[in-house]
Amino acid sequence: MPISVAVPTEQIPEERRVALVPDILKRLTKLGAEVLIEKGAGERAYFLDADYENCQVIDSSEELYKQADVILKVQAPTEAEIALMKEGAIIIGFMSPYDDLSRVAKLRDQEVTSFSMELVPRISRAQYMDALSSQAAIAGYKAVIRAADLANIFFPMLTTAAGTIRPAKVVVVGVGVAGLQAIATAKRLGANVEAYDIRPETKEQVESLGATFIDVDIKANADGGYARELTEDEKQRQQDKLAQHVAAANVVITTAAIPGRASPKIITTAMVENMKCGSVIVDIAAEGGGNCELSQPGETIEHQGVIIEAPLNIPSQIPVNASEMYSKNLFNLLSLMIKDGELEIDWDDEILAKSALTHAGKIKHLGIQSLVEGVSA
Ligand code: NAI
Repeated sequence: MPISVAVPTEQIPEERRVALVPDILKRLTKLGAEVLIEKGAGERAYFLDADYENCQVIDSSEELYKQADVILKVQAPTEAEIALMKEGAIIIGFMSPYDDLSRVAKLRDQEVTSFSMELVPRISRAQYMDALSSQAAIAGYKAVIRAADLANIFFPMLTTAAGTIRPAKVVVVGVGVAGLQAIATAKRLGANVEAYDIRPETKEQVESLGATFIDVDIKANADGGYARELTEDEKQRQQDKLAQHVAAANVVITTAAIPGRASPKIITTAMVENMKCGSVIVDIAAEGGGNCELSQPGETIEHQGVIIEAPLNIPSQIPVNASEMYSKNLFNLLSLMIKDGELEIDWDDEILAKSALTHAGKIKHLGIQSLVEGVSA
C-alpha cells in the first residue's frame, strides 16, 4: 500500500497558506506517496483543486483524517482534528508547542507522531526544512512594504524640478532572518537604513547589505545563534543609545523575538513620543507581544502622531510564495522519513530526533515534556 499523505483545509479562516502546493505534490508522488487533498484546501492561496493533478480530492476533513498516514499542516491541529487522527499517524506542521501545552498532551494521548517545524534544529543540513527562516524572510519583506505604504513620505531620494526629496530613514531592530530581509527590502526601495541587534556578529551582515550598524556595545549571544535576555542595566544602556536613532527615523521595523518567550520591549513609550509626527513603527514581533510598549498585537494604532502597526501571521499575507516555500520545507523533512516508498523514521537522524514532539504515547522533546508533565528535563 502506498503511503497516503493528506492535506486538510486550514481551520483558521485568516490562515491563507496551504501546506502543499501542486509542484511539490508532483515530487511527493515520485517518492511513491498517494496524496489526498481536502476540497478547497489551497483556494485561499490561489491554488485550485484542479491544479492538484493525480491526487484525490476529498470532501470532508473527517474522511481525510481517517485515511491519512501523514498529515501536512500549516497551523497547529485543533482538538477535533487530533481526535480524527489514526493511532500511529504522522502529523507535520507548526505545532506551536509553547502556546498550548494541552494540545501537546492530546497529541501524546492520541498516540500520533508529531513533528513541530518550530523545533527543526538550526544546523546547516536542516536549512532546507527551516520553516521559521522561510516564513521570517517573508515577514521581513512584507513589514517594509507595509511601512512604505503607511509612511507619509517617499522611501527613495528623488531629484525633481520641484526640488530634492531626501531618502527615508529606516531603523531595523533585530537582525535575524526577518531583519536581514527587512534591511535588504528597505535598501532596494532606496531608504537610508540603520540596524541594531544585540548579537555583535550581525554588524558585518548589516554592513554587507549596505546599511549602518548601530553599536550599543552590549553582547548577548546565547546557544543556537539566538539572543539571551538582557539585564536591567543592559536594557537601559540599549534604550539610551537607540533612542537617538529612533527619534531621527521615519520608519522603525522591529523584529526581535526570543523563541518561546515574550518579545523584549525595546521601543518605550518615551521613545515613541520623541519620534516625528507621521512616523511609522511596524512591529513584527507582535506574536510574542511586540517590541514596542505601545504595540497592540493585530492592530494599527496612532499615538501622538506616530502610527504603530503590530501585524500577526504576516506570511499568510503573501500566501502564494509563503505556501510554496513552506511546502518545500515540509517536503524536505518528510523525504527524510520515506525510504523506498515506505515510512521509516531514523531516530538517530538529529533533524528528526530534535523536531519530533510526540511519538508512541510519549513527548519526545524533553523541555516541553517537563512543562506538560511537570517532570524535570
Ligand atoms: P529571532 O526571530 O529569534 O530574533 C530576531 C533577532 O532579534 C535576532 O537576531 C536576535 O539576536 C535579535 N534580538 C533578540 N533580542 C533582542 C534585543 N533585546 N535587542 C535587539 N535585538 C534582539 O531570530 P531568527 O531570525 O529566527 O534567527 C536568529 C539567528 O539564528 C540567525 O541570525 C542565525 O544566526 C541563526 N540561524 C541559523 C540557521 C542555521 O544555521 N540553519 C538558520 C536560521 C537562523
